[in-house]
Parts: sequence; structure tokens; C-alpha cells
Amino acid sequence: MAEAVVGVLIGKLGAALAKEAATYGASLLCKEASALKGLFGEIRKAEKEFESMKAYLRQAEKFKDTDETTGIFTKNIRELSFQIEDVVDEFMYKLEDDKHGGFAAKMKKRIKHVKVWHRLAHKLRDINVELEEAAKRRARYVLPGMQGHAGRGDHHARATNQNLCFAREDDVVGIEDNATKLKQWLVGDLKEKNYKIATVWGMGGVGKTTLVDHVYKIVKPDFDVAAWVTVSQSYQVEDLLKRIAREFGIITDAINMEIRSLVEIIRKHLEGKRYILVLDDVWEKDVWINIMEVFPTKCSRRFVMTSRKLEVASLATSNCTIEMEPLGYKHSFELFCRLTFSNSDDRRCPLELLDLAVKFLQKCEGLPIAIACIRRLLSFKQPTYSEWDSVYKELELQSSNNVMQGVDSILKVSLEDLPYELKNCFLHCAMFPEDYELKRRRSIRHWITSGFIKVKENKTLEQVAEGYLNDLVNRSLLQVVRKNASGCVKCCRMHDVIRHLALDKAAKECFGKVYEGHGTFSVDGTRRLSIKSTNIVPLNPSGATHLRAIYVFTSSAVDLLRTILASTTLLSTLDLQGTEIKSLPNEVFSLFNLRFLGLRKTGIETLPEAVGRLQNLEVLDAFGTGMLSLPKDVAKLKKLRYLYAAVCVVEGRLMRNYGVKVPRGIINNLTGLHALQIVKACSETLRDVAALTELRTFSVDELTSEHSSSLSSALLNMSNLVHLSITTLNENEVLTVEELRLPETLCKLHLKGQLEKKQMPRILSSWMNLKNLTLLSLSVSKLDENSFPSLMVLRNLCLLRLLNAYDGKTLCFSAQSFPRLRELYILGARELSQVEIEEDALGSLVKLQFLGCPEMKRLPRGIKDLSTLDELCFVDAAAELIKILRQEGEANECKEELMKISHIRRVRFSVTGENFWRRIVTR
Ligand SMILES: *[C@@H]1O[C@H](CO)[C@@H](O)[C@H](O)[C@H]1NC(C)=O
Ligand SMILES: *[C@@H]1O[C@H](CO)[C@@H](O)[C@H](O)[C@H]1NC(C)=O
Ligand SMILES: *[C@@H]1O[C@H](CO)[C@@H](O)[C@H](O)[C@H]1NC(C)=O
Ligand SMILES: *[C@@H]1O[C@H](CO)[C@@H](O)[C@H](O)[C@H]1NC(C)=O
Ligand SMILES: *[C@@H]1O[C@H](CO)[C@@H](O)[C@H](O)[C@H]1NC(C)=O
Ligand SMILES: *[C@@H]1O[C@H](CO)[C@@H](O)[C@H](O)[C@H]1NC(C)=O
Ligand SMILES: *[C@@H]1O[C@H](CO)[C@@H](O)[C@H](O)[C@H]1NC(C)=O
Repeated sequence: MAEAVVGVLIGKLGAALAKEAATYGASLLCKEASALKGLFGEIRKAEKEFESMKAYLRQAEKFKDTDETTGIFTKNIRELSFQIEDVVDEFMYKLEDDKHGGFAAKMKKRIKHVKVWHRLAHKLRDINVELEEAAKRRARYVLPGMQGHAGRGDHHARATNQNLCFAREDDVVGIEDNATKLKQWLVGDLKEKNYKIATVWGMGGVGKTTLVDHVYKIVKPDFDVAAWVTVSQSYQVEDLLKRIAREFGIITDAINMEIRSLVEIIRKHLEGKRYILVLDDVWEKDVWINIMEVFPTKCSRRFVMTSRKLEVASLATSNCTIEMEPLGYKHSFELFCRLTFSNSDDRRCPLELLDLAVKFLQKCEGLPIAIACIRRLLSFKQPTYSEWDSVYKELELQSSNNVMQGVDSILKVSLEDLPYELKNCFLHCAMFPEDYELKRRRSIRHWITSGFIKVKENKTLEQVAEGYLNDLVNRSLLQVVRKNASGCVKCCRMHDVIRHLALDKAAKECFGKVYEGHGTFSVDGTRRLSIKSTNIVPLNPSGATHLRAIYVFTSSAVDLLRTILASTTLLSTLDLQGTEIKSLPNEVFSLFNLRFLGLRKTGIETLPEAVGRLQNLEVLDAFGTGMLSLPKDVAKLKKLRYLYAAVCVVEGRLMRNYGVKVPRGIINNLTGLHALQIVKACSETLRDVAALTELRTFSVDELTSEHSSSLSSALLNMSNLVHLSITTLNENEVLTVEELRLPETLCKLHLKGQLEKKQMPRILSSWMNLKNLTLLSLSVSKLDENSFPSLMVLRNLCLLRLLNAYDGKTLCFSAQSFPRLRELYILGARELSQVEIEEDALGSLVKLQFLGCPEMKRLPRGIKDLSTLDELCFVDAAAELIKILRQEGEANECKEELMKISHIRRVRFSVTGENFWRRIVTR
């Protein structure tokens, strides 16, 4: 992890050096000049040293667990890096401070600061000396030995650990379906002389090996020869081939053999035979690519690989890949009973142990490996309440990874394999509470403002960060909770067992800690703090000076914050999302270093002008608060990249976010903005917005027809716009968007407002240029049979939502229309009685919902041909249709209708009272 810390620091040092030229132009006072020169000199020295150290650290960290000297060295470096970071942040802080106040005040500060520069330069010099010393020591003691640590010793240690927790043959639970599938792939068409690769993918400990092992034993007799080889993380081709040869039963004196003859021997042995090879725990595609040529063709051959990485899983031929997920509750319980009560005949859990069993299982979260480890713990105890209870208490007391050693050692490898850029991002995810749903965009903003994301050519930071997120998912370190209609990850979760391990690491490396409110707790030295408790008594804020980030997850925390903030001048992230805080403590506005201020869904009602002092702010998120307008001094936040603000209003049972007022002449100064959501329309504001050419996301609310032309000209300038949301003042307001030319870069469009009826077909046809539009949401647009067909120019649409937007009686999807559409929502179409789906229309549709369509008496015509449809839902359809779905109508008719949707996995319908209906039609 030292490498990750150093990576972030080098970025900071670079930024500090950039100040050298910019500091006060040429007008330096004499003493000031010499003091600053010394300081910059030290910064440059540190930067050089770290640059040269980075590559070394990457290597060194891999062996940290096995090599004490290296471990001490990296720890040393991490601490020194932190010290330097503190110096540099303080320097930037004071430097900025100089710019405030009148001339006399500024001069006074500058003279005062000369002392500070000297002090910092001194400090840095001392640290640099230590740094050099550490590097020399490392060179003396460590380097020669390093090569020897790779490879087999490591591998063997891991393999034995794994075996401790292996499930036994008759303990397979919940994988029957996938076992059948795998078996079918492997031996279903063995007679044809073909070749197949099947892969099984999933997080560590989820039971991949168990599944393959189970199937392997069954299918083995169908082959002439079979071999099982565990590959694991570090491997060498030669070594791997030797093991393959051995497992295939080729008896050779392989030890001294040349690799060429080894290949020959394997080939000869397998020639003309039916064979199967299992490669267990493959960490990279290259394993296969390096050895694939060895195996003879012209016979039936099967390869099975298990991996934690999607990259490896994608090697499968003909989609023969299985994704393993943690077991559901029922199967977990079954497995637990089978393992734990294997000695009793019925393998049932005694009644008095039931609630403890449930508690144990909660800790395992469906991971078979964890269940097996708990079983191991319990196997030394009598099955009585008191004995089990003491085991449970012990588990509670120690962090879970201390006790569940088997799990620990298996998951740890996943972490060691992470490239360092990903390590920060990964550990960051663990700072959120258990089971927390991590939203993609929020995480990405945090990562960027924390400096975790490195610039890559031709990519925005957001794109790089999104790649990191996908990489964590592909490595099974994060689980996907939701994807959007085009299949991109929208929301993830970290498995609790992994999170525990990550937190352990985060605490050891001073990356961050979670404050749960009990036990003793010290923030000393840690860089990030996640607060989950309002209980402030044991939290001692001294030592908080090094904090860079605070995340709060309790409803109220003002007092707690005040105490901590008073001693943390260098904080760069403060995220209070979801707390009930009503106003920010003044201390917040002295946080010069602050880059991320998260106030989403808080009770904040105003922001003082002092917010303008947060010169480094990149993210200001006050979405869904009580704030009606932006403070003027937001204009001073030159580095702002994301600005979210919206007033949350509760309307009946719904919540709606309204745009905020933007004072004149402030928003045009924020030219670096990538996102601006939601502004209340006003001609001056829209004129100002025209200066924001970098915008990717823009939302405007309460628009009237008068604003049309200023909106149009603003949009013309937004050549990077991806996401646009327009809402009119009310339902009667007609958008005259004739001249509204939407940027071709647009991916998502939300349009709430009437379109001019006569112009509608023309407007919609002009959208033909929106080749990238994947999401379209229309409200109150008064579409009908005449205008709807024009929408079909949107060939790439993945999601279409019509909310009180369709006034016609019939809705026809003509042949081959919307080939990419995956989700279709039709809500509040009051007249709609018939839907027709022509041949090959909606060819990718997965989800179809009708909500509040009281005239819908029949299923859509042609629905039986929607072969990809997975979910169909009706809420408040006509009574006739509900009757059919309930099978209460005439038997034959029901049967006939239901046949049409028998291929759909999930069909749901529900009826709500009048209330519900009204809720949809009112704004
Ligand atoms: C694999 O699946 C994809 C998408 O589901 C499909 O397009 C492709 O034809 C399949 N390939 C094979 C060889 O079955
Ligand atoms: C079986 O495979 C399917 C599809 O790959 C997957 O969704 C499911 O989670 C698997 N079952 C288990 C127990 O892993
Ligand atoms: C980046 O874009 C430029 C111009 O579009 C192109 O010449 C260059 O090859 C791109 N670089 C990479 C790494 O894709
Ligand atoms: C993750 O896997 C998906 C699907 O194979 C692939 O498209 C994507 O590029 C991968 N992302 C990363 C960052 O490896
Ligand atoms: C899904 O997310 C991706 C990545 O951010 C985005 O490009 C795409 O437009 C989204 N699709 C939809 C239908 O929202
Ligand atoms: C906005 O920018 C203009 C021109 O760059 C500048 O004159 C003005 O002072 C700025 N306003 C604020 C509030 O910073
Ligand atoms: C559409 O999206 C693709 C892929 O993200 C991008 O390369 C292309 O530039 C986009 N087209 C426009 C007009 O923005």
C-alpha cells in the first residue's frame, strides 16, 4: 500500500511545484524569496526520490507478508509520505491564505509566513534525510534476496490453507442446477470430436472448486484420461506443464527435462484420446494462452477453468460459463446443518440452537467457505447452547478474520493481486457501512477528489474511474446490485467477509477507520474516518490533525463534527449525505483543502457566503436539501467540477426535487463545471449557462416557453453534453422546441413538458441524429398514434419511459422498431386500450411495465414473440385483464391468454385504490 500512498503524493508534489512560478508573480519580498526557494528545493527532492522509489515499492509490496525487512521499509516510507503530505498541504493552505484581505493585511500575512516557510522547509529537509537513510538501509539489506520470494513456497502455503475448509462430496448444496448444466456441457456431446472450454467464475470461497470437483468426479469415467491442476496466482509455465504431465499420469523424469521434450511427451500421451483437464484457480488469461498449443486437437477434449476474474471466465467457448453467487439463506442453512450435524441421522438443527445458527450464518453471508470454517470451530464443541454461545461471543469479540482463518487466507490473495491504483479505490469502498449500496457516480467522485485516479491519455478522469470500478467487479471484489439498461454497473456492494478484511488492512495501513461507537478508539494517524455512531465519549479528537476525509453515516453528528473539525485543518473530503444536519458548523469554511462537500439529502437550508473560501472545492453536492438558492460566492469556486443542488419537496407520498435559484452573473464563472443540476429557469441564468462548455450533465426546471430561445442557444455551446433534463413549469406549458437542437453527444434525455402538437413529428424526427441516445424519458408530452412512430428513429434506445405522455388509444411498435430497447415503461396512459408489437419489434426487450393504464383489457398483441422478455408487470390495468391474470375468467380464454406469456420468468400485477391513480396524474 505504500505504493498507493506514494502515487497520490507524487500528484500533490507536482501540484505544489506548479505554484512555484505562479507565486506572487515576480513581486517576491527578499526574505520570502529565499525561504520559498528552500522549500521548493526540498519538495523537488522529495518528488525525485519518490518517483525513483515507486517501481521498487510495487515489487516489494507483493512480498511484504513474507519479508520482514521489506515490511518495515514500506511502513517507513508510508509514514514519511504522510508526513510530507502534511507539510505540502499546510504549505498550500498558507499560500492560499495570503491572498485574502486588503493590501496591508496581505503583506502582514506574507511577512508572518516567511517563518512558516522556513519551518516547513526544515521539516521537509529532516524528512528527506530520513527518506534517504531508509532507502540506503533497504539497499543494504533487502535487494539481493527479493527474487527468491516469488513462486512456490507462497503457493504451497495457500494450497494447504484452502484444504482446511474444503467441503466434502455429499455436502454440495444449492449448486445442483449448475452442476447439471456443467455436466451437460462436458459430456453431452462427447461423441463429436470437438473441443470446449467451460469456465466457472465467482469470488473467493463461493464454491467454484466444489462445483467443479463434484462434476469432475462424475464425468471422469467418460474420458480416457483426466487431470486436475491447481494453478493459483504465481505460476511458471514450465512448472505448470510438469504438474499437468504428472496429473495425466505420464511418468517421466520431468525434473530435468527440457520444456520442448515435455511438450512432446504430453502431446504424444494425449494423442487420439478423449481427455479432460481442470485448471483450478486461474488468475490470468495468459495461463491458458501460454499452454494452449500443447494440447493435441483431433479428439474430444474438454477444459474447465475456475477463476475469480471475469477476464478468465470469458475464455469459455459457446458461452459455457457459470457465475457462482453466494448461497441464499435457505441453502446456507441447509449446508450449515449438513456440515455441522453430519453425525446425526436427520442432520437437523436442534431447536435450542436455532437462533445461534442463524446468527452464525449471518456472519457467513452465503459463502460456503465461511460456513465450513464455522463448522470447524464448532466441531471442537459440544452442541449445547452455552458452548455455541461462547464461540459466537468469541467471534464477535475478535475481528472475524482472526478466527475465520481459512476465509482470510483465501481472500487475502485477491487483495495482493490488486494493482496499486485499485487498492485505494478498493479500501475506500470498505469505509461505507456493511451492506451499503455503493452508487457508481458517488464513488467515482470520491475517488477523483481523493486523487486516486490517474490521468490517462484521451480519457476523462470519470472514464478511468469507471474502468477501475468495473475492474473491481470483474475481480469479484465488488458485487453488482444494479445495472442500468445498457448493462453498465450502477450500484455495487462489498461482501461483508471481504469488507472485514479490507477494514483490517485499511486500519493497519492508516488508510482509514470506521468508528462504531464502542470499545476504545483512536484516530491517531489515520487518514480517513467513517462515523457510524453519535456516541462521542470515547472518541478523542486529538490526533485528528492528519485526517483527510470524514464520512458520516449517523443521522445527527453536529456536535461530534465540531470537535473533530476544530483540529483538522487539512481535511479534503466531508461527506454528510443523509444526515439530519441543518446548518454547517463554521469550522467547515476554514477547511481550505476541502475538495468534496457532500450535503445530499441533508436538512441544510442555506449555505453562507463563506462557502466561497473553499477555494479547492471540486464537488458541491446539496441535492435534495432545503436550500432554495445558491449563495453568490459560489462564483469564487473556480475548481468546481460538480455542482448539485435541488430543493426536496414532499408532495403527498412522493418526493420531488425542484431547481434552485441561481443569482445572476455567478454561474458563468464556473467554466470547469461538468455537472450542473438542477437550476430554476430564468433567462439570465440560461444566458450564463451558455458559458459552461464543459458540461456533461445539465438539468433545468420550471421552464416556460419564454425561455426556449435562451435554452436553445445555451445548448448549442454544450458540445460535450451527455445527460440533459428539462422540466417545464407546469403541464400546460408548451415547449416550443422547434429550434432546440440537441447535441449529438447526448446519451440520456428527460423531457417533462408538452411538445407543440403540430411540430411534434418534425421535432422527433430531428432526433435521428442522436445516435448515442440510450435513455429517453418523456412526461406529459401528449404523444399519440400520429407522433409516436417518429420516435422509432431512435434505434439505439435501451430504455424508454412514457409517463403520462401517451394519449392515444392504440400503441403500435412497428416491425423491427427499437432493436436495442431493454426496458419499456408505460405509465398513466389513460386511453390506451391496445398495444401491438409487430414482427421483430422490441427484439431485446427484457423488462416491460404498464402502470395506470385502466383501459388495458388485453395483453399486448405479439407479446409471445418477445423471446428475451424476462419481466412483465401490470399495475392497475383494466379489470378484464386482471381477471385473466388471476385466472378468474372463462377457463379456455384464460389459458389461451396465459400461454402467450408462459415464457416470461416473472409476471407481476397489482391493483391499488383510487388514491394511487390520482398520484400518478397530478404533478
Ligand atoms: C453467446 O451469447 C451471446 C449473447 O448472449 C450471443 O450473441 C452469442 O451468439 C452466443 N454465442 C454462442 C457461440 O452461443
Ligand atoms: C448458477 O448459475 C447461474 C447462471 O450463471 C447463476 O446466476 C447462479 O447464481 C448460479 N448458482 C449458484 C448457486 O451460484
Ligand atoms: C488519443 O487521441 C489522438 C487524437 O484523437 C490520437 O492520435 C492518439 O493515438 C490517441 N491516443 C491513444 C492512446 O488512444
Ligand atoms: C470487465 O469485464 C467486461 C466484460 O467482459 C469488459 O467489457 C470490461 O472491459 C472489463 N473491465 C475491466 C476494467 O477490466
Ligand atoms: C448506463 O451507464 C453508462 C455508463 O455511465 C452510460 O454510458 C449509459 O448511457 C447508461 N445507459 C442508460 C440506458 O442509462
Ligand atoms: C467572474 O469572472 C469575471 C471575469 O472573469 C470577473 O470579473 C468577476 O469578478 C468574477 N466574479 C466573481 C464573483 O468571482
Ligand atoms: C457516441 O458514443 C461513442 C462511444 O462512447 C463515442 O465514441 C462517440 O464519440 C459518441 N458520438 C457522439 C456524436 O458523441
